[in-house]
Amino acid sequence: MIKKWWHDKIAYQIYPKSFLDSNGDGIGDLAGIISRLDYLKALGIDIIWLSPIYKSPFVDQGYDISDYYAIAEEFGTMEEFDLLLSEAKKRDMHIIMDLVINHCSSQHEWFQQALKNPYGEYGDYFYFRKGVNGHEPNNLRSYFGGSCWEPVPDTDLYYLHMFAREQPDLNWENPKLREELYKMVNWWLEKGLAGFRIDAIINIKKDLSFPDFPADGPDGLAACWKMVESVDGVGDFLDELKERTFKCHDAFTVAEVFNMQEGELGNFIGDDGYFSTMFDFSAHCLSFGEHGWYDAPPIDFRQWRQTIAESQASVAQCGFEANIIENHDEPRGVSRFLPDYAQTPAGAKMLGTVSLLLRGIPFIYQGQEIGMQNSVWNSIDEFNDINTIDQYNIALQAGMSDAQALAACSLHSRDNARTPMQWSSEENAGFTTGQPWLKVNPNYTEINVADQESDVDSVLNYYRRLTSLRKSADYKEVFTYGDFEPAFADDDNMVMAYYRTNKEKRILIAANFGSEPVELVLEYPAKRVLLRNMHSGLLLSDSRDSTESMDSTSGLKLDSCEVCVMECQI
Ligand code: GLC
Ligand code: CA
Repeated sequence: MIKKWWHDKIAYQIYPKSFLDSNGDGIGDLAGIISRLDYLKALGIDIIWLSPIYKSPFVDQGYDISDYYAIAEEFGTMEEFDLLLSEAKKRDMHIIMDLVINHCSSQHEWFQQALKNPYGEYGDYFYFRKGVNGHEPNNLRSYFGGSCWEPVPDTDLYYLHMFAREQPDLNWENPKLREELYKMVNWWLEKGLAGFRIDAIINIKKDLSFPDFPADGPDGLAACWKMVESVDGVGDFLDELKERTFKCHDAFTVAEVFNMQEGELGNFIGDDGYFSTMFDFSAHCLSFGEHGWYDAPPIDFRQWRQTIAESQASVAQCGFEANIIENHDEPRGVSRFLPDYAQTPAGAKMLGTVSLLLRGIPFIYQGQEIGMQNSVWNSIDEFNDINTIDQYNIALQAGMSDAQALAACSLHSRDNARTPMQWSSEENAGFTTGQPWLKVNPNYTEINVADQESDVDSVLNYYRRLTSLRKSADYKEVFTYGDFEPAFADDDNMVMAYYRTNKEKRILIAANFGSEPVELVLEYPAKRVLLRNMHSGLLLSDSRDSTESMDSTSGLKLDSCEVCVMECQI
């Protein structure tokens, strides 16, 4: 494997709208981000991913871009963006932006031109198709509900949108469009951007015959990802994109990829892959419902443990994946992956440890480092997210009561991750002096940065120790390049444990997700404890802080929600 500059980095996702508001309009902004760069530096962050900050009507919170070359006024100016780049650079941090090029906003100039003349130059930037017998060209359902096809008024045409109708899909078959996109990507990279998080990219390849698929819901439609899974050739586009842009700048790219075809991982993230890395969503997929959020299963611990082990094994030969417990599209990890009794500061530290020390590039989502949780939602009107409103209606149509539909949204809504960052116990969690655009999680008086700064045992200070362990001179190599090997997985316990090993070192990460203490018989003698989230009984022998070796029969006792990171004899 060829070593790359980003292999040993730790990344952090900022959702700009909810990070920090500097001017009291209730919307987070670039000035707010700049003022917290030192905070991120102290957290051990090297790469900052900004969710979209481009000009946008915000139908899908900036994932609907109306000008790829402009900063949304809500967030600030291009000068402020340049300042962010230079301030990050001063601190040896890298900025990456979201790259949303499967679709743009219906307000984008290209689409406005296309609407005026669907048969003209810009019409070919999108997919306009004639209806079939007065119906949509085929029966695909968009990710946000309803048909993927929107009629163009006063014509017999429809245009394709795999997400909201305000997000028309760009026609990647058109070389002119591709050139426009490469020019734009290079423009940002030349500005000093370190790379991109690449949105919904698998969707860029369409089956141009636009066939019908067997209906999978009462609406007679079929999920549009079925087309994505059935069509070949996305690799040609991705390869060209990389060759023409990222590769010329040694950029770091992390792709959002669902529905990849089997056996393709190496093409995506191998040494000369389309991307540097892509997110590992395998654990998240465990709680995706067959029809929607209303029939989504809860996480089963053993299945989750198994899934992570399998995923780590499958990627080992290809490259690196990016590990997350949450992002702006997912509910909070603490609320999702931890049993009720573990939704505590100890549990948050445990989950963070298990995730951050996996093989791969760790991504921390804003607020994760203080253990933020899902919010409390009293009515559907409190949500803003377009996807949540759709899922609410799907639940009602499936016969759920209002309360049941709301409960499903409360558990799964993307807005759980989008509530304002909790900076302090002051009004609006110190996020804004105005009216926040989305309601603040009422638990901000209990969970916030300011309180945690002054508490050595806080989740925040624990995360700082965790990132500094991962990056420490002595252990960086093993945490970056060491192998992953599952340990102690047993149907009778709720222990999530694994080794990270190389020729010199063997590190055991062991966490007890169960409600009762467990005792593990160590397989390799312990050398030293590197990190733990509790001060309670730890090693059964009396040498718990010792650097001396212990005999191999020594045991490790873990309380409920306890995690221990320990170096063992090789
Ligand atoms: C990605 C984004 C999500 C957005 C969608 C459409 O999945 O992460 O937030 O809604 O793409 O752009
Ligand atoms: Ca603002």
